[in-house]
Amino acid sequence: MRRFDGKVALVTGGAAGIGRTTALAFAAEGARVVIADIDADGGEETVRMVRAQGGEAVFIKTDVRVAEEVKNMADRAVEAFGRLDIAFNNAGINEDACTVSRCPEDSWKRLIDTNLTGVFLSMKYELPRMRKSGGGCIVNSSSVQGLVGDGAHPAYTGSKHGVVGLTRTAAVVYARANIRINAICPGPTHTAMIHKLIDGHPEVEQLLLSNIPMGRMAQPEEIAKVVLFLCSDDASYITGHAMAVDGGWVAR
Ligand SMILES: NC(=O)c1ccc[n+]([C@@H]2O[C@H](COP(=O)([O-])OP(=O)(O)OC[C@H]3O[C@@H](n4cnc5c(N)ncnc54)[C@H](O)[C@@H]3O)[C@@H](O)[C@H]2O)c1
Repeated sequence: MRRFDGKVALVTGGAAGIGRTTALAFAAEGARVVIADIDADGGEETVRMVRAQGGEAVFIKTDVRVAEEVKNMADRAVEAFGRLDIAFNNAGINEDACTVSRCPEDSWKRLIDTNLTGVFLSMKYELPRMRKSGGGCIVNSSSVQGLVGDGAHPAYTGSKHGVVGLTRTAAVVYARANIRINAICPGPTHTAMIHKLIDGHPEVEQLLLSNIPMGRMAQPEEIAKVVLFLCSDDASYITGHAMAVDGGWVAR
């Protein structure tokens, strides 16, 4: 028996980065995987990668900012595989550094809509379907910036702190419905998101590294392993937790 045999796992933002890596890891451990993303090419590519390693997957094009699309995602996930056991609400964006007084209002709205409202809508439509499946596990993507302040990214930091609060309040309500809900708080991780910030800007990379006691950024596989742990029976008594996976960033 593999850890997730018989389970159905939904991953938002599964077309790239941490989401793709986690979808592949779930599939490798037996889960049937639903990939949801705004990027259809990347999402279909993840499905091909899952199938190439012998797993089952479907892609559902979804913009997590749009309620009807998120409801459609949850409906079609259950249509595809008959149930919903696990959701990794991971779709997210970041934008250029700024201070609060210089944060463009449209950038604030894009970040809150994607990173916070996207997680709210995802849980809103996943939870009733998980209840029908008899219970389940949700992991929401926060960040170290959901635990500590970052003077340079007010909208990102605000959205990721919001994800922690939303995770905790949902965990309290659904604990007796056999649904565990946790947040993951990664430090800088080698994906397109972080490389957009550091490529060609060694000073930004140095600044990030100076916050990390381990002196290096994470690989996406190191984040995926923790998501799988939180969704596994080994984490059966963990709910409402915001777990840093950060090389020691928030310990300083
Ligand atoms: N990479 C890091 O250093 C890091 C650190 C902490 C937290 N995170 C968080 O991890 C998550 C994944 O980040 P990543 O580094 O893999 O980024 P990424 O840019 O590689 O992947 C993000 C995915 O989300 C999708 N997406 C964006 N907006 C969407 C929308 N409206 N609807 C549906 N899908 C959408 C993108 O198309 C992409 O496939 C994000 O929530 C991010 O904030 C990343």
